[in-house]
Amino acid sequence: MKNLIDIMQMSTDELQVLIDTALDIIANPKKYAEACRGKKLATLFFEPSTRTRLSFEAAMYELGGNVIGFSEAQSSSAAKGESVADTVRTVGCYADIIAMRHPKEGAPLVATRTAGVPVVNAGDGGHNHPTQTLADLLTIYREKGTFDNLTVGVCGDLKFGRTVHSLISAMSRYKNVKFVLISPEELKVPRYIITDVLEKNGIPYEEIASLEEAMPQLDILYMTRVQRERFFNEADYMRLKDTYILTPDKLRTAKASLSILHPLPRVNEISVAVDDDPRACYFKQVLNGKYMRMALILKLLEVNV
Ligand code: CP
Repeated sequence: MKNLIDIMQMSTDELQVLIDTALDIIANPKKYAEACRGKKLATLFFEPSTRTRLSFEAAMYELGGNVIGFSEAQSSSAAKGESVADTVRTVGCYADIIAMRHPKEGAPLVATRTAGVPVVNAGDGGHNHPTQTLADLLTIYREKGTFDNLTVGVCGDLKFGRTVHSLISAMSRYKNVKFVLISPEELKVPRYIITDVLEKNGIPYEEIASLEEAMPQLDILYMTRVQRERFFNEADYMRLKDTYILTPDKLRTAKASLSILHPLPRVNEISVAVDDDPRACYFKQVLNGKYMRMALILKLLEVNV
């Protein structure tokens, strides 16, 4: 694997190797401290980010490497009209690996054609976010010890939430996984995920509007933000943005073993009162993201420790 554009490029065996590497990094951080000495990561972020960009940068620093890049399109020559292809061809002359976020779906794939170095999709429009899925998978594995036999609820903006699309695809390959897709009518999972991922592979799923109704059966609850930046009109966003707000009261019927995930940032969809609940895993997920990005950088740069 030279690039990571879509989580489905990785088999479940390859994902397990990455998870095992991340667990070894957690257990033995000093062993990896010089692994990428002399290497440079470029973070090209044409869209805002806190976690993905900074965790990639922290990951490279903790591997002993260096980081260059930009955090908004306006501070790059994209503002003068430079194409993605030319930008990454240029950056490929300076860096050993590129992590790129772009509002246009498919832009990181286009980048792989001219970069000359590995490219990682750090989120492309409403499409995919494979390294968030790596963070999600390590979190599920550390909480549950398995990916099998889980009922996974995904709740909120399932239409534009790119992390949801990548997570459903990845989790659909494990044994006896069921999905409960919780959203308002307007924000349902795109049809291609239903037909090409769930129905094609015979994965059980239900689509419902009520979080309360879904709650008792869930092993994982993956909350998501309504993606304001992808809406065409503000009135629709305002109408839908607070459809789901997870509170301690709504967790009364949940399993004691439930794990609550959220890719973050959150707006209103999880009350801060839930943060102290032992089932809340979303800040553990943030840290797991850094370890999985370290493991991914090692893999793509073919560094063996
Ligand atoms: N989860 C995630 O992608 O967060 P950022 O937008 O802050 O990178």
